[in-house]
Amino acid sequence: MTLTQAALADALKDRPFQFYPSITSTNDAAVAWARTGAPQGAVVIADEQTQGRGRMGRVWYTPPNVALAVSVVLTPPSAFATRVGLLGALAVAELCEGLGIGGVGIKWPNDVQIDGLKVCGVLPEAVWEGTTLLAVVLGMGINVRVVLEGELARTATNLEAHAVAPLDRTQLIAALLARVDAWATRISEDALIAAWRSRLTTLGKRVESEGIAGVAIDVLSDGALLIVTDDGRHERLVAGDIHLTG
Ligand code: BTN
Repeated sequence: MTLTQAALADALKDRPFQFYPSITSTNDAAVAWARTGAPQGAVVIADEQTQGRGRMGRVWYTPPNVALAVSVVLTPPSAFATRVGLLGALAVAELCEGLGIGGVGIKWPNDVQIDGLKVCGVLPEAVWEGTTLLAVVLGMGINVRVVLEGELARTATNLEAHAVAPLDRTQLIAALLARVDAWATRISEDALIAAWRSRLTTLGKRVESEGIAGVAIDVLSDGALLIVTDDGRHERLVAGDIHLTG
């Protein structure tokens, strides 16, 4: 079903939202809105992104009719700003579980996977005014029924490939935002880290990132990954991509 302003207004009730049939990037619009006072929970939704952005400067592909591109404005205490990305991954993982999908896991830090294939990417972006944190924009891109070709066909998947029935994107957005809201009010709690950690598929695995190689043994309360290197050093990885090497 097509995403429309009217259907979203009905599903999102009193939540402030902006809907674009097509936009460059929902994160860009949400950052601009945060700078002009968007409240906690305000959300930008698009059917299509023409310049969707991924982590590490990558492009994120959002063709029309087949995906979700959602950016939520959150206003956490700055001490917990680094938790916004993992909060997004947890919310999406819970959304998948709520659809009865099995094999859901999170690859550190915030890729949501089904049976090891990526179904969602999360891009948190902090919005600063001088040294004041105005907001953190939580961008989430979910493949619902994207045609996956080339490399993507080997590494990614779609929600509908695992769900029992066709999915209504409007209802998915409402359910996702309910999970985001629930954890956003608990962003300072250890329970958030525990719920995210329990879904991480990375712990206990051999990983390599930015010249650091070893076994991922734990995560810290800010979401950083703790790695024990082959020569026994403890290294803390705060961001970046990891490659599983064993
Ligand atoms: C990743 O590289 O895994 C993160 C992808 C994040 C994509 C989402 S789609 C909604 C929001 N708008 C963007 O431009 N990016 C994020």
